[in-house]
Amino acid sequence: MEQLFAIFIDEHVKINNLINEIINENNSLNRRNSLKKQLYLLLKKHFDEEELLYKKYRFEIQNVIMTLQRMYKEHEFLITKMNDADTNFHELYKFLKIHEHIEEKVLYPELARSVSSEDISSVMRVVVG
Ligand SMILES: [Fe+2]
Ligand SMILES: [Fe+2]
Repeated sequence: MEQLFAIFIDEHVKINNLINEIINENNSLNRRNSLKKQLYLLLKKHFDEEELLYKKYRFEIQNVIMTLQRMYKEHEFLITKMNDADTNFHELYKFLKIHEHIEEKVLYPELARSVSSEDISSVMRVVVG
């Protein structure tokens, strides 16, 4: 059960490393474009996986529901930013760090407690393929 959250946290690390590489001024334009494409694909994959899990939340604790809604909106916003040529990756990084912090410190522990192990296993099967 904890394995799924470890995978998600590992994906956060990979996402953050990619953004740091994009921010690196020494990249050629080709390299930068290829990194941006990798980041886009990784974000999409990560958000799809997280949303599979978030949809398994069956309780009605208002704070949790509001946090989930915020995460959905931020996923959408981040994907939009990836398609925007003027995106400032320093700003994107700051925004994403807060998003990840909420997930790791608030949401994942809450979902680890409240989502059934059957539901977590079903998400896990999709994530590991
Ligand atoms: Fe997320
Ligand atoms: Fe995440």
